[in-house]
Amino acid sequence: MLDEVEVTRQTYDEIAEDYARTLKDPYLGGSEAYHKAAIDRFIGLLPPQRRRVLDLGCGFGHDLGSFLERGLDTVGVDLSQGMLALARRRFPGAKLHHMDMRHLSFEPGSFGGVWAAHCLYHIPKRDIHKVIEGIKRVLVPEGAFFCCLKLGEGEGIDSHVQALSYPGKPRFYALYTEAEAKEMLKDFDIMEWDAKAEVYYGSGWVYIWAKKPTNRARFKGR
Ligand SMILES: C[S@@+](CC[C@H](N)C(=O)[O-])C[C@H]1O[C@@H](n2cnc3c(N)ncnc32)[C@H](O)[C@@H]1O
Repeated sequence: MLDEVEVTRQTYDEIAEDYARTLKDPYLGGSEAYHKAAIDRFIGLLPPQRRRVLDLGCGFGHDLGSFLERGLDTVGVDLSQGMLALARRRFPGAKLHHMDMRHLSFEPGSFGGVWAAHCLYHIPKRDIHKVIEGIKRVLVPEGAFFCCLKLGEGEGIDSHVQALSYPGKPRFYALYTEAEAKEMLKDFDIMEWDAKAEVYYGSGWVYIWAKKPTNRARFKGR
């Protein structure tokens, strides 16, 4: 039997072409203006000398394109070969890796920023610490981190409520309370925390901009 992450990957492989073609407005905050401002805010947090960006769960390259346009050295990772193939077609020569975000294989301190839009909710809660630890490891001190999480409780495979855009296509979703999200990000310095109760794509959302602290002691000796 496929596990939750494999079920999700398989669905993304199946829907990749349509997802990229129709781009059913998966905008941060529900609007193009908020999305653009979110990217600008993240770029503004990058350390001046360390502006290399990792786009986690980059999909077909929606945001990767915005970072490349801004002249940023950008690396994308995704678990779906279907999504990556589309990103490669859109951005020939872009640095794209087939990689599970639970097992980031980059050197420590490789990036000035990690961007994780619309993807952390596909990781089972029992594994989210692997992703967060990996992000902390690959960021430089003072490195920027952005993520968004679906607000709510529980987790599971869903084909309808959260997966509104592709009914009948199963994907795994983990929903977080704000308290859980704060606990998950306790090692980061939170720069901005924007929780929105309005239901968009099946849930409320929280948008988070953070920085890896300089104080290495906060990272349990690493
Ligand atoms: C909703 S899409 C978002 C894509 C892109 N970030 C965007 O906002 O347009 C979620 C992406 O996360 C990827 N993904 C899911 N689980 C993953 C994992 N464990 N490792 C890497 N990528 C994963 C999926 O393949 C998919 O491309």
